[in-house]
Parts: sequence; C-alpha cells; structure tokens
Amino acid sequence: MGSGQFSFLFFLCFCQLSFSSSIPHLCRKDQSYALLEFKRTLIVDPSLVTSSSYSYTSSWNMSRDCCSWDGVVCNEMTGHVIELDLSCSGLVGKIDSNSSLFQLSHLQKLDLSSNNFSNSNISPEFGRFSSLTYLDLSDSYFSGQIPSEISHLSKLQSLYFSGEMLKFGPHDFEMLLQNLTQLSELHLTSINISSTIPPNFSSHLTTLRLGNTGLHGLIPESIFHLPNLETLVLQNNDQLSGYFPKTKWNSSASLIELDLSGVNFSCNLPESLGYLTSLHSLSLKNCSLRGPIPQSLSNLTHILDLDLSDNSLNGTIPSGMFSLPSLSRLVLSNNHFSGQFEDFNSNSLIWIDLSNNQLQGHLPKSIQNHVNLTGLILSSNNFSGRVDVSFFADLKQLCYLDLSYNRISLTNENKHKVTLPGSLMSLQLAACEVKELEFLRSEMLLWHLDLSNNKIEGRIPDWAWSNWMYSLKRLNLSHNMLASVDSIPLQSANAIDLRSNFLQGSLPIPPISTRFFLISHNNLSGEIPSSICNLTSLVMLDLAGNNLKGAIPQCLGNISALQVLDMHYNSLSGTLPTTYRIGSALKSFNFHGNKLEGVIPQSLIYCKQLEVLDLGDNHLNDTFPVWLGTLPKLKVLSLRSNKLHGPIRTLMTENMFPQLRILDLSSNAFTKSLPTSLFQHLKAMRTVDQTMNAPTDEGDQYYQDSVALVTKGLELEVERILFLYTTVDLSNNKFEGHIPSIMGDLIALRVLNISHNGLQGHIPPSLGSLSLVESLDLSFNQLSGEIPEQLASITSLAVLNLSHNHLEGCIPNGPQFTTFENNSYEGNDGLRGYPFPQGCGSSRMPETENITHMLDEVSKSTFLSEFWNGILMGYGSGLIIGFSIAYFMLSSRNSNWLSRIAEELEYRIVMRRQKKKQGHHRR
Ligand SMILES: *[C@@H]1O[C@H](CO)[C@@H](O)[C@H](O)[C@H]1NC(C)=O
Ligand SMILES: *[C@@H]1O[C@H](CO)[C@@H](O)[C@H](O)[C@H]1NC(C)=O
Ligand SMILES: *[C@@H]1O[C@H](CO)[C@@H](O)[C@H](O)[C@H]1NC(C)=O
Ligand SMILES: *[C@@H]1O[C@H](CO)[C@@H](O)[C@H](O)[C@H]1NC(C)=O
Ligand SMILES: *[C@@H]1O[C@H](CO)[C@@H](O)[C@H](O)[C@H]1NC(C)=O
Ligand SMILES: *[C@@H]1O[C@H](CO)[C@@H](O)[C@H](O)[C@H]1NC(C)=O
Ligand SMILES: *[C@@H]1O[C@H](CO)[C@@H](O)[C@H](O)[C@H]1NC(C)=O
Repeated sequence: MGSGQFSFLFFLCFCQLSFSSSIPHLCRKDQSYALLEFKRTLIVDPSLVTSSSYSYTSSWNMSRDCCSWDGVVCNEMTGHVIELDLSCSGLVGKIDSNSSLFQLSHLQKLDLSSNNFSNSNISPEFGRFSSLTYLDLSDSYFSGQIPSEISHLSKLQSLYFSGEMLKFGPHDFEMLLQNLTQLSELHLTSINISSTIPPNFSSHLTTLRLGNTGLHGLIPESIFHLPNLETLVLQNNDQLSGYFPKTKWNSSASLIELDLSGVNFSCNLPESLGYLTSLHSLSLKNCSLRGPIPQSLSNLTHILDLDLSDNSLNGTIPSGMFSLPSLSRLVLSNNHFSGQFEDFNSNSLIWIDLSNNQLQGHLPKSIQNHVNLTGLILSSNNFSGRVDVSFFADLKQLCYLDLSYNRISLTNENKHKVTLPGSLMSLQLAACEVKELEFLRSEMLLWHLDLSNNKIEGRIPDWAWSNWMYSLKRLNLSHNMLASVDSIPLQSANAIDLRSNFLQGSLPIPPISTRFFLISHNNLSGEIPSSICNLTSLVMLDLAGNNLKGAIPQCLGNISALQVLDMHYNSLSGTLPTTYRIGSALKSFNFHGNKLEGVIPQSLIYCKQLEVLDLGDNHLNDTFPVWLGTLPKLKVLSLRSNKLHGPIRTLMTENMFPQLRILDLSSNAFTKSLPTSLFQHLKAMRTVDQTMNAPTDEGDQYYQDSVALVTKGLELEVERILFLYTTVDLSNNKFEGHIPSIMGDLIALRVLNISHNGLQGHIPPSLGSLSLVESLDLSFNQLSGEIPEQLASITSLAVLNLSHNHLEGCIPNGPQFTTFENNSYEGNDGLRGYPFPQGCGSSRMPETENITHMLDEVSKSTFLSEFWNGILMGYGSGLIIGFSIAYFMLSSRNSNWLSRIAEELEYRIVMRRQKKKQGHHRR
C-alpha cells in the first residue's frame, strides 16, 4: 500500500469518526499517522508471539480512535500518545532514524521488548524522547553501539537493554549514570559495557542488573550503601572485584536480591551480611570466599535461595542455617565444609546441593520431611552408612538424586516391593555398593543414570531397557561386573559408558543418536561392524583394551564430528582408515598396540585439530611422516615399535611440529644421523612454559578438560588428561654419527633417550643446558671421550645412564652425580671417580650426611620421586620401571591422580632407572 493511498484512507476514517463518534475524540491525526506508518514498516511473525500474548498492532486500524488501540495510551487533554507498549508482539523489522516512531515525541513510556529488530542499531533519535521515563528495548536483538544520546533522557526512571550484540562506547556508561539522576531501575544484562563502575549513582536506584557485562576494576562501596537498593546483580563479571561493607550496608536494609556470583572478593564472608534482613535471594557463587559461614547469616529469616557454591569456605555449617524458616534452595557445593549434616527445622527445602565437601555422618532422617524436595545432591563427601531405598519413599517430587562417591551403601531390604520414587529424572549412585537394579523398576522418566563403580553383575534386565528406551540420554555403567550387553535398545541415547566391565561377545552398536560411546577395557571379540559408521554424530569412540580383530572399517574416517578415536590394545589388523577430509574434528587418534600394517595415511594431514597421534606397537612399514609437522596442534606423536625406516628428513618449511611435547620414535629402524634439522623446529620443546607445573596431588590445573567434549554439563563429563611431560625418545634405532649439540636447545625436555643406537664421538657439553631433564639415557652407543663437566650442573637429573659406551676420564662432581651408582657407567673404557674405587684427583666420596641431605632435596625438588612412588604402588617393580609419560583418556571424578595412573597406565616408556630409592633406604 502506497503512503498516498494510506493518507486517503486515513482522511476518510478521520472524517467518519469525527461525525459519528459519541465519545470525546482524542486521537490526533499526526499521532495515528505515525503509528500506522510505524506498523507498516514492520511485519508480524506469528511464531514469535507466545500463546499467552498476541500482537497488539493487529488491532490498529482506522475504524477506531488510535488512543483506544492496544498498547497505546494518550494524554487525555492533548491527545498525544504518551505510552506505547509493543512488547512480545512478534514484530520483525528495522527501526532506523527516519522511522515514524520518533514522531511520537511526547512518549513517556516505550516498551519494544521481546521482538526481533535484529537488523537495527539503536538510533540516536531515541534520545529525543525528552519526556521518557520508561524505556525497554531488551530481548529485541538490537545490535551495535548504544548511542550516547540516551543520556539526554534526563527524566528516565527505568531503562532496560539486553543482549550480547549491544555495547557502550567509552565513557558512555559513566555519563549515563551521571546524567540520569532520576534512574531507579537499570537493567543492562549481557550488554558489553567493558568499563569500571563509576562511584556516583542516582540515589533513587532500586534495581541494578549488570550481570555479564564485562565490567572490571573494583566495585565502589557506595553501591552497597544506596539507600533504596533492592536488587543488585553483578554476576558473571570475572574481571570485577570488591570488598564487602564491614558495617550496616544501608540503613533501611532494603536489599531483597543480591547476586555477586563470579566477582572476586578473596576474603571471608562478613558478619555484616546479617544486616540484610530483607534478603530473599543471596548468591555468592565462585567469589573466592574462604573461612567459615558467619553465624549472623541465620539472621536472614526471609531467605529463600542461598548459593555459596564454588568457593573455599570451610568449617562446619552453622546450625542456624538449618533453621532458616523459608529456605527452599541451599547450594553449598564445591567448598571445604566438614562436620555433620544436621536436621532441618523447616520442611520447606526444594533443592539441596552439598556436593564436593568433606561432610560426614549419616543422612539425617529429617530429609524425608521435605516432601517437596526435587533435588538432593550429596556426592563427593564422606557421608557413610547404609541407606535403604525406602528412605526416599515419601519424596514424591524427587527428580534429581546424587549420592555418588561417599561411603554410602544403598540397600534394598524390601526387594520387589520398594523402589525409588518414579519421579526421578537424573539418578547418580556411583560407588554406592549397588548390586542389582530391582529398585529402579518404577523409573520411567530417567534421562541420566550413573551407576558406575558398583557391583552390578550379569546382564541388564529387559524391563530396564524397555522402561528407559525413550527417555534415557546418558547411561554410565562403567566399572561394574556386567557380563554381557547384546544390544542397546535406547532410542535417543547421547552418551553410553560401559568401560571396565567383563563384557563378552561382539561389539554392541548403540543407537544412531549416540555421541559418546565408551566400552573400553572389556573382553569384546570379533570384528568392528561397519554399521558403526551409521553413528554419524559420534564425538568419542573408545573401544580400547578389548580383543577386537579384523580390519578397521574404513568409513570411520567419514564421521566428521569424531574427536576422539581410541582403539589401542586390541588385535586389529589391516591398514588405517584413509578417508580423512578437510575439516575433520579429530583430536586424538590412538591405535597403539594392534597389528596394523601398511603406511601412515597421508589423509591425516587434513586433521588440523589433531593433538595426539599414537600408532605405537604396530607393524607399520613406512618412512618418517615428516608431513605431520604441519599439524599445528600436535602435542603427542608416538610411532614406537613399528617397522619405520630410513633417514629422518625434514621439510624446508618454517615452524614444524610447533606444539610437539612428546616425540617417541623408539624401536624402529631409522638410519643415518640424528635429525638435526628437526631439532631446529620443535618450538614447544625449546621454551619452558612457566605456567606448566608438574602435576600435584590436587592435579586439577594439570588436567586439561577437553572443553569441546563437554557442553553445558549435560554431556558426559569426559576429562582428558594430557601429561605434558616433554620427552624425546629415539632409542633402539640405527642412528649413527655425532650427537648434535643443538639438542641442548631443547631446554624443556624432561626425558631424553637416545640409547641403543650407533652414535659416536663426544657427548656435547651443550646437553648441560637441559636444566629440567630428569632422565638422560645415552647408553649402548659408541660414545667416547670424557663426560662433560656441564652435565654435573643439571640439578633435576634423577636418572642417568651412560653405560656401555667408550667413555673415559673423570666422572664429574655434582650434587646429582653423587646419587648415581655403578650401573650408570658400567661397560665403558676407563671411567674413574665416584662411584668407582679408582679416585680422580680432588674428587672424593662425599660425606654421608651430605648425601642424605641431597637426596632429600632431590625428592623435594621434582615431582619425579612422587611419581615413582605412584608407579611402584601400581607395579611393585624394582629396577626397571614402566614410566608413563604420556596421556590418559579417562573419565575421572575426584580420584587422586596417582591411583589413576596406576590403574589406567596406558602408555609407557620403559627406561632404566637408578636405584635411587633403594640406595636411599640402604643408608
Ligand atoms: C550530561 O549532563 C551534562 C550536564 O547536565 C550535560 O552538559 C551533557 O550534555 C549531558 N550529556 C548528555 C549526553 O546528555
Ligand atoms: C542479627 O539479628 C539480631 C536481632 O535481630 C541483631 O541484634 C543483630 O545485630 C543482627 N546481627 C547482624 C550481624 O546483623
Ligand atoms: C579454614 O581455612 C583456613 C585457611 O583458609 C585455615 O586457617 C583454617 O584452619 C580452616 N578452618 C577449618 C575449620 O578447617
Ligand atoms: C509442598 O507444596 C505444596 C504445593 O505447593 C504446598 O501446599 C505444601 O505446603 C508444600 N509442603 C511443604 C512442607 O512445604
Ligand atoms: C546403516 O544405515 C543405513 C541407512 O541409514 C541402513 O540402510 C543400514 O541398514 C544401516 N546399517 C546397519 C548395519 O544398521
Ligand atoms: C616394508 O615394505 C617394503 C616394500 O613394501 C618391503 O620391501 C620391506 O620388506 C618391508 N619391511 C619390513 C620390515 O617389513
Ligand atoms: C657437608 O659438606 C661440607 C663440605 O663440603 C661440610 O662443610 C659440611 O659440614 C658437611 N655436612 C653437612 C651435614 O652439611
């Protein structure tokens, strides 16, 4: 419709109205024109209009006075439109600077929220609504910079913007707060503000929602003292820090909602929180808080929601917390609380999450009184005792139950009669001594079931499969004693974990929807059917540690989502899949310990995301795949124990193997000289990453979460643990010539093994620059000359093997060298000095006390001794110890890394170790 036609219609209508209407006429011609014109520039998308709302503009037509149109309010005296509410109207389109909207210059209230103006910037013309007190443009997909003209709206009391596409220009946020002196409600959730918070605010402020806005710096304490403040939300601004007021916050104790989650406070919770007696909701998740919960928190008698999770709070939970009369949601997870879980005085709780603390004792019976409880999450504490299934019988609303990793045994005294409530959707009972599944007979709604680390035997009963066929998305039955799974008849499973059972028979194929399928460490046999390639959504496929035979289905290379393909330790034969294509998502490719033949497929070069490539212990017959050097993220390359041969040639390109930290080419038939040109690259080995500490017992910072594998907590929690233990192992080949002195540049190396080759000449003094090296093995070569003094300065050296060469002269003197014994040097031509009886000038056997002292330093100085302990625990071996330096794929929750290593040791580099420990004990 052209605008000429429009005006004509309008004119007709206007005349009609002015003669026929008995009610006083309000609508001004210019205003209704502007409204209709505005309507004309937009379309209505019915799918955006929720069933509860409808599009206001649909009622706009000339047959009625525009002041009676839906969403429109006029000034009764002047007929000017003063309020326009078009929220949730399904409007789609663009509002540019010449929009007729801006002709409604008397607007006091404008609400355009929850529409779709995704092509629009916020026009500076909005700044001309000088009477505006209320402006809501939230959830409407506006984008770009918020015009500074908004600060002209000096009467504004309520302002709502939201969305990641919007941002403030420099200083605009500060000016806004300075100029809008009447402001009482300010909602800017998820806008990119990226500035500090200025200290001055309108004293009228009641609501301040600035979550997820990139604010940084210190929160001005004046915010906490705003006299009328009811809602303060600054959550999710991790660059922001602050201090709590030590005294009363504001005189009226007006705060109702306080959410500072993610803001860095790094302090104890202050007693002064007890003044906030009106609080309904307090959220201080992940605020780096420590120390105990102050007693004063029991003053917060109106509190409904309390979230103090993800901090370092400790001590016991004060008993006052268990008597808060209205508390419905208590979240204290991921802290260090100890002591008991007391009886609650109220019955009002709906959600309890105390997971990941050190709480102990029995579950209090009073939990049963919270009949509206929907979530009870107590995992990873020290709770103990037997808990019978009947304990939960009255909790008819229970959806989410997690008792995993305590010392709880779940019993079922009244088998066949009592089951868990049928309302459960997520049930996690890992390590709860579960033996059978009868107590799950009522469960028809489960979408997440974790019964890992239990004692379930035999097979999964048919009733279970049929109960869960349509609902179950995540199933974890790993670490049980299941004997067979013939099929997995689930319709929409996403993650299935059956690792470490006693499963026999052929590989069951999960439903097509499966993204994570883990069935390693079982007894599966037969071939891998090519129908596995029908699982086109697969992200992770772990079939390691079975007896699978035959060829690898070539079509596996076609699954474009696949990130982790792990089939190590099987008996697979034939060749590797060659069908990789550009865009492959593959990150980890592990076929270690099979019987694969042929060459390393060149199509792997398309897997630009590849971080781990382990083809060790196979029968591959190829030359060195130098083209792998172009993979930008490759961290681990193991080709050990194959039939690889020929000289190691390198490409002329820049920056080969930039991220490589583990290179294992041992036990092949490589020839000619050590690859000097390769050592010129290897950037990651030439720089010491200070942030990369050796693993501690805590281990967490050392675990690399494979972020891509875990989305929003609903996916299987697969953590990838990559032991970035920088290593070069070229042993057991046919290398000859000299050790290039450039090897001394690989200063990040912790393990260097070039033993069992035909190397000649002197040991280059440059190896003394390897200041982090803990194991150096040059044995079984033809090396001659003296041991360079420089090696004696390597204080981290715990293992040295120079045996079976032609070395002669004095063994240098150094703190570490006093710990090495004969077998480090035996089979040489003429070495003298400690530990040999033939003296060597000034060098002498050091004092016993000093040795002991130094040994203690050794054990302290590196993590290696601790590591050995772990390995010893697992293998109880003596001289030659399997040293795992590589990586582990495992789903680990809360278990200490040493026992995990012992348990899941998958890849090891065997090397000779000094009898350091034994020597230590002998003294
Ligand atoms: C903010 O207020 C000051 C002083 O009232 C005024 O000079 C300035 O123009 C205002 N800025 C905006 C963008 O409104
Ligand atoms: C807690 O409440 C009591 C009485 O209601 C009051 O005397 C006390 O000052 C409050 N404590 C704090 C820290 O607010
Ligand atoms: C709580 O942690 C602090 C260190 O942050 C420590 O000094 C204190 O002893 C701990 N208290 C308890 C009860 O564990
Ligand atoms: C449980 O919820 C119902 C319905 O909302 C309510 O009437 C009842 O009081 C609640 N029970 C308790 C113990 O809070
Ligand atoms: C794989 O999928 C195709 C088509 O989706 C189907 O025809 C075929 O039967 C499937 N193969 C197996 C073994 O399930
Ligand atoms: C490797 O393959 C070549 C040619 O295909 C063959 O001549 C050679 O014997 C093989 N080497 C080994 C060790 O099997
Ligand atoms: C260690 O040796 C030094 C001389 O090398 C000597 O001064 C010292 O007393 C010895 N003993 C101890 C326990 O340090």
